[in-house]
Amino acid sequence: MPFPDPTTPAATPTTAGADIRIHTDPEALSRAAADRVTALCREAEAARGACHLALAGGSTPRRLYQLLAGPPWSQQLPWPALQIYFGDERAVPPEHPDSNYGMARAVWLARAPLAAGQVHPMPADPARINQAAADYAGLLERQLPRNEAGVPVFDLILLGLGPDGHTASLFPGTPVLEERTRWVAPVYLEQHDSWRLTLTYPVLEAARQLLFLVAGADKAACLARVLGTPANGELLPVQRIAARGRVEWHLDAAAAERLKS
Ligand code: 6PG
Repeated sequence: MPFPDPTTPAATPTTAGADIRIHTDPEALSRAAADRVTALCREAEAARGACHLALAGGSTPRRLYQLLAGPPWSQQLPWPALQIYFGDERAVPPEHPDSNYGMARAVWLARAPLAAGQVHPMPADPARINQAAADYAGLLERQLPRNEAGVPVFDLILLGLGPDGHTASLFPGTPVLEERTRWVAPVYLEQHDSWRLTLTYPVLEAARQLLFLVAGADKAACLARVLGTPANGELLPVQRIAARGRVEWHLDAAAAERLKS
């Protein structure tokens, strides 16, 4: 049976039974996430000889990436089997402080025992944004296994959550929320007058495992809506993921503050 079994009902991240793990603070969250990322990468390598991992952007995962650069995690990661990608990227050069690749490179990848061909930045060149999306999608098609629908299947995708319920660069009110044929698509954010590239829903939904990292009191209201109540009315972008694989939520106490225990 090809993974994922297309007959299994889609489990959105918010359906009952979501695997929610609450940690005392961002440091504990990052250490627990480092354990899980390392274990999941080792599982993928043992099962399939490779681990196709997509990194989250934003600020929350910074400490996680710093931890993965050092022991014990750096001694446990299956480095030769790792292929590292990005879930989304801003239309800025790697040296820019907003670059997701630039952050991961600075705190982790530049000091990791990885060959250049193992790290795949997602250059969101605004001058050729559609071609940049197509180029990255082509990379995924060449590098990753595909499911029965031809969608590239990541072993693990790390994701954050914005206070407005966006994840990756799937922002409320953007056309990319309706994108079901391209694996990577451009997103124009009017509020920032800037472009981004993002993995689209089909790729998030096809992944073997999604791992959300959410910290901070500013996420508590959104999490209460996403995880605390049955999805009803207008779904937030993160609620529209019909995940076929496993979904784990790693929260700090501040972000989880409004979840009923
Ligand atoms: C990005 C991320 C985005 C991020 C959330 C949370 O490129 O910004 O992909 O989805 O994960 O906005 O960001 P923080 O971790 O900074 O709160």
